[in-house]
Amino acid sequence: MDTSTTTITITATATATAISHRRLVLLPLPFQGHLNPMLQLANILHSKGFSVIILHTLCNSPNPTNYPHFNFVPIPGTGEDILNFSDMDKIISLLLYINTKFINPIKECLERLMSEDDGVACLITDAQWFGTQNVADILKLPRIVHRTSNISSFVCFAASLPLYVKGLFQRFSDEEMKLNAPVHGLEPLMVKDLSKFLLDDSEGACKLLELMIQGTKRARALIWNTFKELEERELEALGQHFPNPHFLIGPFHRYFQASSSSLLAQDKTSLSWLDKHPPNSVLYVSFGSIVKLNESQFLEIACGLAKSMQPFLWVVRPRSVEGSEWLETLPDGFLERVAEGRGYIVKWAPQQDVLAHPAIGGFWTHSGWNSTLESICEGVPMICSPCFGDQLPNARYVSDVWKIGVELENGFQREEIEKAIKRVMVDEEGLKFKNKIQNMKWKIDLCLKKGGSSYSSLEDLVNYIVSF
Ligand code: UDX
Repeated sequence: MDTSTTTITITATATATAISHRRLVLLPLPFQGHLNPMLQLANILHSKGFSVIILHTLCNSPNPTNYPHFNFVPIPGTGEDILNFSDMDKIISLLLYINTKFINPIKECLERLMSEDDGVACLITDAQWFGTQNVADILKLPRIVHRTSNISSFVCFAASLPLYVKGLFQRFSDEEMKLNAPVHGLEPLMVKDLSKFLLDDSEGACKLLELMIQGTKRARALIWNTFKELEERELEALGQHFPNPHFLIGPFHRYFQASSSSLLAQDKTSLSWLDKHPPNSVLYVSFGSIVKLNESQFLEIACGLAKSMQPFLWVVRPRSVEGSEWLETLPDGFLERVAEGRGYIVKWAPQQDVLAHPAIGGFWTHSGWNSTLESICEGVPMICSPCFGDQLPNARYVSDVWKIGVELENGFQREEIEKAIKRVMVDEEGLKFKNKIQNMKWKIDLCLKKGGSSYSSLEDLVNYIVSF
């Protein structure tokens, strides 16, 4: 008898038993770009045998019927308050608010769940739920943080705090804030990225960052929706200040798609429209779930798309343009030209399927991390228009470090837009971006296979949780 096989079988069975008795509580932040990866993570852990409880706010709650295999526990009293903060300029106040006001109801929910026969093995929260670390400490419940953006941007955020305290950001004049020069210690960020990186309220942003960083440092471990081959250098830099174990198990959506956590209905006609177009011919345009545009930015985008003469699929979320319900502010005649078949506008698209469609040749994005990673996974080069926070470093990495796309350096200007679209969709340079990003796509395929970096890291994560 082969004893080594027996040992492996027994160990595997023991692990399976250990896992099946473990209940995990996952607490997502109630925004699309945070719900998607957290619910994908929940699916990944469930597929490994864990029981999953989704603890969620009453506002922007996920649809439980799409996840009959999870238990959903609403946090009482967490509805209307969030809606009062729905504008992006109030995001800092919102995050500070929920991390004080909602912490007690979260604690009560956790106490109840822990007192049940199955108990709770571990709490996994979004990094922005930093207030839950105190609760976890009081309840002696291991807390793992899931940071929904990438390591590169987290390293920039962490490095920006001491610089802010030293007065670096405050030192630049308004004119200097437009400079195209790197910021020492925050590379590859440029000086001109700083104001959008920490939003207009840099004092509030730094307070928030400090709390998130403290909460993350005190957590048992971190889970990342990225892969080692993409951010190895940044992981090393991070490890110097965050010695917690890091599990890089992404891209999550390669295990499970995000469509079931979509808060808006996805317009599937996008796909039948794409079917009519040749490979690599269509530009996909979408700025995620939160970004809002003013009327003049919206007009520049429309005119840039019109001038480029390139087919496009454009997501315009209702009420995402100031003062307009949907498309009322488009230039005269624009819709008629769109109706000629070169462009198609939808309110919300099945983005992952769109990016995987052979007709797509480029993605004009706001550089949210989910969108960036989804684009890399499908080998689609990007045009970046970052608007705030992690989108700034993400865009710099895409254009200056990974060299898989271009950044619109001066906001939304029709001539620059037209040029950028040609660079990515038509010119020789576009082919170089395509080759580089295809190379990354292959690395992703490898890292998810048995023995690959994400595959192994997921195994390690499972064993780590079982060890609690
Ligand atoms: C926010 C922040 O803006 C982002 O920077 C951060 O990394 C996560 O939180 P969001 O702006 O929504 O997220 O952008 P992104 O991270 O790209 O997430 C958007 C998600 O919505 C993606 O998973 C994308 O596939 C999905 N989506 C977007 C759709 O399903 N349909 C659409 O039409 C547009």
